Amino acid sequence: MRRVLRVAGLALMTLGAGGAVNQKWLAKVPAADRAAVNPYRGQAEAIAAGQRLFEDHCAACHGKDLLGRHGKPSLRTPVVQGATDGELFWLLKNGYQRHGMPSWSNLPAPERWQIVAYVKSLGQK
Ligand code: HEC
Repeated sequence: MRRVLRVAGLALMTLGAGGAVNQKWLAKVPAADRAAVNPYRGQAEAIAAGQRLFEDHCAACHGKDLLGRHGKPSLRTPVVQGATDGELFWLLKNGYQRHGMPSWSNLPAPERWQIVAYVKSLGQK
């Protein structure tokens, strides 16, 4: 019984520390997608457009500050900020639905690149 409680306690601690994020999606990204170049990288207008798109589509789960909410992960972690633009673009296209991250393949590709430019513009926190 004690051991069960301890295991449950550890599971709760892991959840408390920013949600039970799985991150196995990263290993699924094909090399060509990983290396794809963001046509909008660092462009102020595209970043501003990405912010508006993020607030419409992503903030409900990841927070307006991207720090995560209600057990959904922060996007300002070393893993997300250290991912290539191509990896993030791939995730937005494919989603990771089994783990609660929807696909955004219905958004046009330029909009997905703008969102990636915005996410990366913020850096780690
Ligand atoms: C319905 C809630 C929801 C919405 C809306 C949503 N996400 Fe997510 N997202 C998640 C969840 C849950 C995960 C964690 C998946 C996992 O366990 O790896 C996630 C994971 C991610 C990750 C990977 C985080 C990591 O550490 O591996 C990124 C990047 C991401 N989302 C970006 C976005 C962007 C950009 C949008 C808007 C286009 C968005 N998400 C919209 C729920 C959501």
